[in-house]
Amino acid sequence: MPRCDSCEMLFVIFCCISVTVYNVIADESTSYCNKFTQDCHEMELPSESVTALAVVPYTEGQLLPHHRPTRDFHLGGQDIHIQQDWGSLGVAAVVWDAAIVLCEYLELHPEVVRQKQVVELGAGTGLVGIVASYLGGHVTVTERREAMPNLSKTVDTNRVDSCPGSITVKELDWTTDLSAHPQYDIILGADIIYIEDTFQALLTTLIHTAREDTSVLLSCRIRYDRDLNFLTLLEGHFHVEQIHYDKSRDIKIFSTKKIKTKT
Ligand SMILES: C[S@@+](CC[C@H](N)C(=O)[O-])C[C@H]1O[C@@H](n2cnc3c(N)ncnc32)[C@H](O)[C@@H]1O
Repeated sequence: MPRCDSCEMLFVIFCCISVTVYNVIADESTSYCNKFTQDCHEMELPSESVTALAVVPYTEGQLLPHHRPTRDFHLGGQDIHIQQDWGSLGVAAVVWDAAIVLCEYLELHPEVVRQKQVVELGAGTGLVGIVASYLGGHVTVTERREAMPNLSKTVDTNRVDSCPGSITVKELDWTTDLSAHPQYDIILGADIIYIEDTFQALLTTLIHTAREDTSVLLSCRIRYDRDLNFLTLLEGHFHVEQIHYDKSRDIKIFSTKKIKTKT
């Protein structure tokens, strides 16, 4: 059968365009999955897929949330402005649904954080910590080193004079020495159960920063069976209870407390 070189060429061009368009229209869980591999290994590198987005015509309103340069929220009684940078900073510089759901939960239950010493782990843009401070918590938002400049910027942009709580930014990498970090009344984490390689370090961090009376609130979308492995690990040291489910966004919130050691 005669070969059709131009057909092959057209097919290759079609595939390239499809991959690029796929990157634009992928939903949160799919794009998360694409970024997942890159985040694990090349967190600081710009995303080539996002660079490629420049060739696709779009209007900002049609972009999926992660690809928008900014997000605006009204939470905790305040307007909040977040600049996103999925292209160069990846998962740490965009707002995940789990964060929004946890903020909405805290709005309904402000007593969880009011006048409490609160830490947010893997804070990303810091949305949850910012809202917790608006609700009266004394909050430390934490991240690994690469994400710190963006986190500090977002927190500073959203400082308000009338805030009944307070907010500070601190580096806390789950995989490093934790001895300088204190224990807190409340630990918050939104969408931090996602890299299996970090599960043990995250668990160690929770054990280190929690007292027996500390409440840990974790909001997450369970994307893969392996995510459940973390909950199994957690149950070795904490009582775990699902306290909320946002059906429309498929986000669960778990409340956990350390299992009391027998004296
Ligand atoms: C999916 S993002 C969630 C960000 C934010 N909590 C939200 O929901 O919008 C996961 C976050 O965990 C952080 N993270 C991953 N490994 C970490 C580690 N070893 N120490 C501290 N933070 C880490 C990432 O930098 C990232 O910001």
